[in-house]
Amino acid sequence: MNHLKALILIGGFGTRLRPLSCTRPKALFPIINKPLLQWTFEKLAENGVDEVILAVNKLTQFHIRQNRLPRCGLKVRFSIDPPKMPLGTAGPIKKAQKLLGKEPFLVLNGDLITEIDYKALYKSHKEGKALATIALHEEKDPSRYGVAELVEGDKIKRFVEKPPKGTEPSNLINAGVYVLSPKIFDFIPTGRAVSMEREIFPKLVENNSLFGYKVEGLWIDIGKPEEYLETNRLLLEAYNGKPPKRGGFECKKPFVLGKGVSIGENSIIGPYVVLGKNVTIGKNVHIRDSVVFSYAKIDDDADICGSLIGEAARVGKKVKLTKGCIVADNAKIKDEALISEKIQVCPAKEIG
Ligand code: GTP
Repeated sequence: MNHLKALILIGGFGTRLRPLSCTRPKALFPIINKPLLQWTFEKLAENGVDEVILAVNKLTQFHIRQNRLPRCGLKVRFSIDPPKMPLGTAGPIKKAQKLLGKEPFLVLNGDLITEIDYKALYKSHKEGKALATIALHEEKDPSRYGVAELVEGDKIKRFVEKPPKGTEPSNLINAGVYVLSPKIFDFIPTGRAVSMEREIFPKLVENNSLFGYKVEGLWIDIGKPEEYLETNRLLLEAYNGKPPKRGGFECKKPFVLGKGVSIGENSIIGPYVVLGKNVTIGKNVHIRDSVVFSYAKIDDDADICGSLIGEAARVGKKVKLTKGCIVADNAKIKDEALISEKIQVCPAKEIG
């Protein structure tokens, strides 16, 4: 491979991850304390990609620039959706046509953590007559995804987006990673939102030019809060932290602590906990199965389980947060507030 380019789609609004996505794009959600996009850059660089094009909206571009991520040796360019007109999952590909050039290129949904061998996927595309080769991942419940039916080994005969349960043609789902040949640009209309999954893939099936490539190993998208937590859980098992040397508290594996974390006496952190940098935990706090973003403060006697706590958020004394609670950036829950199950607190709101 000489010069391999990848387009990463990261201009969506991440509505299912609200209220945490009100203040950051999905691509910058921390996964065990490293932004998702940085995981993606590292993986692409390892796989021989040398240039990435980030398909963004203006706000996402702003956040990414502010973040100053390490670029892992990649050349990084932006392709920006027009103001007030999100282009969907195919429109941004057409928009980036000039930047993508005349060779086949990779396209990735920017909300994934995966072990897909991009090089092998690219090679399989180059060898065949496909206009598009989709990475296909085996999934127990395929109904929530785009599902492909294969014939003659790797040709896709049918592609159905989110089929009703029980009607799925197979358990092979669109992993949100594909290789496209430049001829694809002829299939994507300009100037409006276009869905790759609902409009373009079915057209390619008719044209006999949509192929699949089965992939194995880790694959997870962080589309929903429970999936975001699960992604952190899975990676925590591989990357385990060491507790600070001093302090009368306990850390149960697996856990990861960011720099500058402080934990009060008798607190129990873990299992399955990520604390971002400069998080402050009071005394006698219990946290399990949760992600706490940087600069958050959890006061004495709080009990947190299955929750997401945003950047610089504050959880007051004796507050109990149970499975599914989300506290957005800079939000505050007052001391001893009684919290209902699955509460979601908007950015900078104060409750209790
Ligand atoms: P939800 O609102 O929660 O469904 O999230 P989303 O907007 O990210 O949508 P979805 O998960 O279906 O998108 C898949 C990928 O495509 C994500 O990485 C998105 O950032 C990206 N994406 C979705 N819509 C657009 C768009 O209009 N423009 C661009 N540039 N990227 C998009």
